[in-house]
Amino acid sequence: ALAQEAQRVAAEFEFGPDHVRKATKEFIREMDEGLQSEGTELSQIPTYVTAVPNGTEKGLYMAVDLGGTNFRVCSIQLHGNTTFSLTQSKVAIPRELMVAKTSKELFSFLAKQIEAFLKTHHEDHYFSHLERVNTGDTKGHEVFNLGFTFSFPVNQIGINKGLLMRWTKGFDIQDAVGKDVCALLQAEIDELGLPVKVAALVNDTVGTLMARSYTSPGKTGTLLGAIFGTGTNGAYVEKLDKVSKLTSKSDAGTYDKSTGEMIVNTEWGSFDNSLRTLPDTSYDKELDEKSVNPGIQMFEKRISGMFLGELLRLALVGLLKEPKIPLFKDEDSSKNDVHSTTQIHDNSPIHQQWGLDTSLLSICAGDHSPGHRVIRQTLDKDYGISAVSAEDAEAVKVIAAAIAQRAARLAAVAIAGIVINTGRLETSSGTATTEQKTGIEPSRGQVDSSGRGDVPEEDVIDIGVDGSLVEFYPGFEDEIRQALREIPEIGDAGEKRIRIGIAKDGSGVGAALIALVAGRVEQAIA
Ligand code: BG6
Ligand code: GLC
Repeated sequence: ALAQEAQRVAAEFEFGPDHVRKATKEFIREMDEGLQSEGTELSQIPTYVTAVPNGTEKGLYMAVDLGGTNFRVCSIQLHGNTTFSLTQSKVAIPRELMVAKTSKELFSFLAKQIEAFLKTHHEDHYFSHLERVNTGDTKGHEVFNLGFTFSFPVNQIGINKGLLMRWTKGFDIQDAVGKDVCALLQAEIDELGLPVKVAALVNDTVGTLMARSYTSPGKTGTLLGAIFGTGTNGAYVEKLDKVSKLTSKSDAGTYDKSTGEMIVNTEWGSFDNSLRTLPDTSYDKELDEKSVNPGIQMFEKRISGMFLGELLRLALVGLLKEPKIPLFKDEDSSKNDVHSTTQIHDNSPIHQQWGLDTSLLSICAGDHSPGHRVIRQTLDKDYGISAVSAEDAEAVKVIAAAIAQRAARLAAVAIAGIVINTGRLETSSGTATTEQKTGIEPSRGQVDSSGRGDVPEEDVIDIGVDGSLVEFYPGFEDEIRQALREIPEIGDAGEKRIRIGIAKDGSGVGAALIALVAGRVEQAIA
């Protein structure tokens, strides 16, 4: 009976080929709508990034990266031959700062991390700066140009200026909304007297796209940088004349028009907030109602790492509430099919919101041991659910797989929408591609493992991805590919052309590269 119940719940998460196709059409519609107007579901934010470096740049740059879970500080030495060395430090963002009363608490924490990093890794630079400040001799003194990766929706109004539109991923600091996050960070940096200038503001997807296009071996440049981690989002290379909400604005700020392209941050986490095509189970509804931002980031809430564990928890709690369903219950034969003795402690995380981590889904997918030993141990050790039977573990595994499969199939919708709508499938060997015309540099460097060997390089559609979900959930990419093949415009042939490669920790490098370009543009304009 338990196996059947698990199948029933798993079936609620089915998102079949027709659903994938319908959602892809809607994605394309919302992409175009977002390029034309403000306030749309897909924000389609122009990033002011119109070119990527060509690998010959040299110098020392800094980047900081405020993701959903960690804050990283790094310095990047670009060697000028397409290689670089990276020094980085990483701290978990304290939970209380994510929901602090004022943004100052968060941003002063960030500045202090930068200070600590400089003292540890760039001592000379730091102390010589202090000395010069003390003697008043700061003329000609170099400051670090810093790329700020800020992984939240920002209405960008210049390369280092952007107003926070809304928080996502559980952050909630109201007084920051509408403010320029670069200015907030710069103010705290200045208060500590650090030799650092916030030179570029970058979404993590944009950083990932930059880094991937710098290091991947494709001839056609990278089309898309995507994050499947705590949150999910993508940024892609769009034709500048399609970004009409920017090009038609007289006060749009300065950007280089010569490449004819601009990177657009889709903020696809809020794709189809009105649920025209997205699935909406009772678990999705409950998760959303109890979240800090009901009604928004509806796509993200069905895909990303912050939410999948919670969906699994809600689905399991649904089964636990039924006395007759023998999940995590001792069978008591004397009472004839009443399974009343639960094996769960009252304070088990399974009864608390966000109690199950998305890593549990990865563990379920990765456990091929007899009787699902690993799943049972994890439930016992990490979640206080003891004496789990092999049938219990199987039920958890089946439901977890269905939730992750749906997430990957939804991820495919976004990828497909962008691949189709940018016309990349129409260019193939023999035809000039947009990249060749516009001079976004062919990338070079690392070879990745997921490329399909039988596709000519000029036909490859390159995608860089990062984030804990795509990195750790076994088979996430395979599920995405399966769904891509089901979309007629892509099919088997199109799916083969799509190369997906991990750009691990790419966004820091990407941000440094953008800081560099920003510095150069500033010089050119001055
Ligand atoms: C990191 C990037 O590697 O991945 C961050 O440096 C990004 O910029 C993050 O936000 C996303 O993954 P996760 O799993 O940490 O949310
Ligand atoms: C959320 C943020 C977005 C970010 C993504 C991945 O969706 O709104 O800006 O890119 O998470 O970190």
